[in-house]
Amino acid sequence: MTWLITGGAGYIGAHVVRAMAEAGERTVVFDDLSTGVAERLPQEVPLVVGSVLDGESVARALAEHEITGVVHLAAKKQVGESVDRPLHYYRENVEGLRVLLEAVTAARVPSFVFSSSAAVYGMPDVDLVTEETPCLPLSPYGETKLTGEWLVRATGRATGMATASLRYFNVAGAATPALADTGVFNLVPMVFEKLTEGAPPRVFGDDYPTPDGTCVRDYIHVVDLAEAHVTVARALGSTPGHDLTLNIGRGEGVSVREMIDQINAVTGYDRAPTVTPRRPGDPARVVASADRIATELGWTAKYDVQDMIASAWEGWVRLHPEAARS
Ligand code: WQD
Repeated sequence: MTWLITGGAGYIGAHVVRAMAEAGERTVVFDDLSTGVAERLPQEVPLVVGSVLDGESVARALAEHEITGVVHLAAKKQVGESVDRPLHYYRENVEGLRVLLEAVTAARVPSFVFSSSAAVYGMPDVDLVTEETPCLPLSPYGETKLTGEWLVRATGRATGMATASLRYFNVAGAATPALADTGVFNLVPMVFEKLTEGAPPRVFGDDYPTPDGTCVRDYIHVVDLAEAHVTVARALGSTPGHDLTLNIGRGEGVSVREMIDQINAVTGYDRAPTVTPRRPGDPARVVASADRIATELGWTAKYDVQDMIASAWEGWVRLHPEAARS
């Protein structure tokens, strides 16, 4: 098969491309390079620069490269920005997907993997979130991901295309320093930034109903996440008519305080955090049940939080050499 990876020059996309290549799968990247970086891609992987909102450009790429499966990661992904710019997010994430699906179904591509998010669950009031936990997204970002899942599933049912929606939990880490996330939008890089500035890391609220009062999340190494894509892509490729919705997490809750302790240990900084008020919209606890993908496809995560932090730190120091400690 040949897989078109939309958003393949992004942080997660480039890891998917790498994992696919290591597994011997052919890939072509389709990316508008708005946030993606061409240098993240191996030389031998073709890059088509284009937007998923441009159906003709997608159709051309599908035909020219004889694409037989799509992994769709191209999207806007900042929760806060989505609150300020909902129409932009609906256009990029929902209209972009609709246009892409039009081209994909016209070309009769048999398999489609969609990058979704734990943001579809909103504030789940359960210990472990299963794929059956009700979806009540709290942000336009989460809404666009849930709407995307509906679009993908409905299209699969109407056309026979095999589909999967992967709900990523909190992604961190890097396969190599050059592939590390360059954004500073999540806990791990935000703590790195504060430490580098000589400032204390911030805990957004310590009065949540959790064991240490700080929010609990399910962190997943981007290398594990990328390998989950390979597993799912292969399952779809060999079983037409599949319709999968899968959590991609580790099933282990880690609190903000525990993360900051581990970051201090890995980086050699020993900086006590300061507690600031809660960030609006943060759920107390979001931890996956990772049982379905383990049972149905035999995939489980291999890496732990320390691996994530250590690899992310190498990438951070590459971009911020002043952060290194002897
Ligand atoms: C984690 C925890 C913060 C920074 C978001 C999206 C989710 C997914 C991943 C895309 C929270 C706390 C953070 C800091 C802190 N994205 N925090 N101090 O909000 O769980 O998930 O990113 O699909 O959909 O919602 O991730 O990394 O922003 O925060 O205390 O300096 O760390 O309050 O509890 P979040 P995050």
